[in-house]
Amino acid sequence: MSLALSRVLERHRAVVCVGTGGVGKTTTSAALGLAAAALGRRTIVLTIDPARQLARALGLTALGRVGEPVDTKGLTKPGLLHAGMLDLKASWDAFITRHAPSAEVRDAMLANPFYQRVSTSFAGATEFMAIEELCRLDEGREWDLIIIDTPPAGRAIDFLRAPERLEKLLAPEVSRWILGRKGGGALQAVTGGARFLIHQLERAMGTRTLSEASGFFIALDAMFGDLSARAERGRALLTGKDTAFLLVVAPTLPELAGARELGEAMRRLGAPLAGAIANRVHPLPGPLEPSPAVVEETLRLAGADQACTAWLDETWRAARTQARLERDRLDGFTRVLPADAAWVEVPELERDAHSLEDLARLAALLTGAALSPSSAP
Ligand SMILES: Nc1ncnc2c1ncn2[C@@H]1O[C@H](COP(=O)(O)OP(=O)(O)OP(=O)(O)O)[C@@H](O)[C@H]1O
Ligand SMILES: [Mg+2]
Repeated sequence: MSLALSRVLERHRAVVCVGTGGVGKTTTSAALGLAAAALGRRTIVLTIDPARQLARALGLTALGRVGEPVDTKGLTKPGLLHAGMLDLKASWDAFITRHAPSAEVRDAMLANPFYQRVSTSFAGATEFMAIEELCRLDEGREWDLIIIDTPPAGRAIDFLRAPERLEKLLAPEVSRWILGRKGGGALQAVTGGARFLIHQLERAMGTRTLSEASGFFIALDAMFGDLSARAERGRALLTGKDTAFLLVVAPTLPELAGARELGEAMRRLGAPLAGAIANRVHPLPGPLEPSPAVVEETLRLAGADQACTAWLDETWRAARTQARLERDRLDGFTRVLPADAAWVEVPELERDAHSLEDLARLAALLTGAALSPSSAP
């Protein structure tokens, strides 16, 4: 059925790895980056909150330094793989600096305590910034391929909804409402007793939240046109034909149900999934698996007692049952994928995937290309 993943890497300019929390998006993004560089593409991987060891393997020692060359130890031609880690606070500040219509608005926004609190924490803040960074990397024309990891999400579709969410936050009706119809700040819009109460509340809580929020929205209002255009640009890039979405999914029932929902939503958006990766699959026993009699004899020779043999037997049966269940679920899932989508199953490795060696192994499993120092072009 499928267009192999290596073809997805070769034919697109941007690849976005989506999936719910903890399924392996960051690891897969990094492994795909290595695979793309091995294919000779000048690649950048933007990771979000990678595990410390993985960051070290990619040579990422400081947040926000996007575009550092990765020493792939001869696995690819030097200088082809680059990596970065998203620094949310720095990215938002840089974004405000770029889009503020005047130095006054910029300074008011950056110094506003409400902005400082919400910029990194409102729903969709990380997603929006990842999309913004993708737009910026795309404008740079420096890369053949940009791979974007996405933040942990309850549902994979959350990533796509980020521009829409930001627009809702920026909607003129919202800020007008907060600013008051005649402008001039939220507190002007409330009168009499209510105003007195708000002041009392702010004093009691030791914050100036409402006044700060109105200052934030005044600055936001001044930037609205630009920000909205930016969200639109992000949406266009995400749904454009040069961008491929790859879904990373765990082989569990709720995961696969969510994945179907995402696939459907993406199809409606006009951006069908380019592929899906079932990660941490427990493979069915292969033809080389020893027979139960051989296993029993080996255990006897190794001096295993009856309790140990029974325990191993039970564990082995449970693993088989799990592998069979996963097989059925995955077969059902592939039937609802777009006909030309790539489909890859990656087994559960015996340890977490953090080193360059692990990434090379995953890259080979994902794209079928064996990576070793001697195979670098
Ligand atoms: N195929 C695999 N075999 C073994 N371990 C794996 C595999 N894939 C990922 N892992 C491990 O699973 C853990 C979670 O992976 P990762 O951080 O890539 O997930 P994520 O989807 O990015 O998580 P989050 O949503 O929190 O960002 C990591 O410790 C990683 O090394
Ligand atoms: Mg991650």
